[in-house]
Amino acid sequence: MLKPLMTAFAFAMLTQPALSAEDPVATRKALMQNNGAAAALAGGMMKGEIAYSPAAGKAAIAAINATAVTMGDYFPGGSDTDPSTTASPKIWEDMAGFQEEVASLQAATAAALEVSGKAGPADLAAFQEAMGPILGTCRACHEGYRVQK
Ligand code: HEC
Repeated sequence: MLKPLMTAFAFAMLTQPALSAEDPVATRKALMQNNGAAAALAGGMMKGEIAYSPAAGKAAIAAINATAVTMGDYFPGGSDTDPSTTASPKIWEDMAGFQEEVASLQAATAAALEVSGKAGPADLAAFQEAMGPILGTCRACHEGYRVQK
């Protein structure tokens, strides 16, 4: 009795990553929601609406870094026709240019993590300096590779 159950469990675990890869639009939207939430936290602290703390600053930077290193995998050919996507067809016309924008986000977040240290940027000024280039890459990529619907 135990054996078939365990086999089913192992099978479910094995198929889990494949399932998310089968829905690249939902996956990349979830990654972008992660970016959006991290940017909202960052923006709130920059505007003084949320009290700054080094741990929160580092959490925002690390969350965007995680998206930056994974998002490039979720734009396979054919995923531009999904009715819910706001990804521009330009991504597939100029995949190299798009991946360069992904690389810019990776570079910006890696640099920010580097200056963050273990505890996170010490104060709001240090956080703003680290976060500024990251927010610039969000804008640049959305302007070039995203359509408003
Ligand atoms: C390399 C390009 C690129 C970068 C960099 C980028 N985005 Fe995006 N973003 C996209 C694309 C493409 C979409 C549309 C995805 C879709 O609808 O399939 C998107 C969609 C979104 C969405 C909407 C998600 C949804 O549910 O429809 C949010 C929010 C978002 N991005 C926030 C951010 C933030 C914040 C950053 C910076 C930290 C960022 N993005 C950086 C390309 C990028």
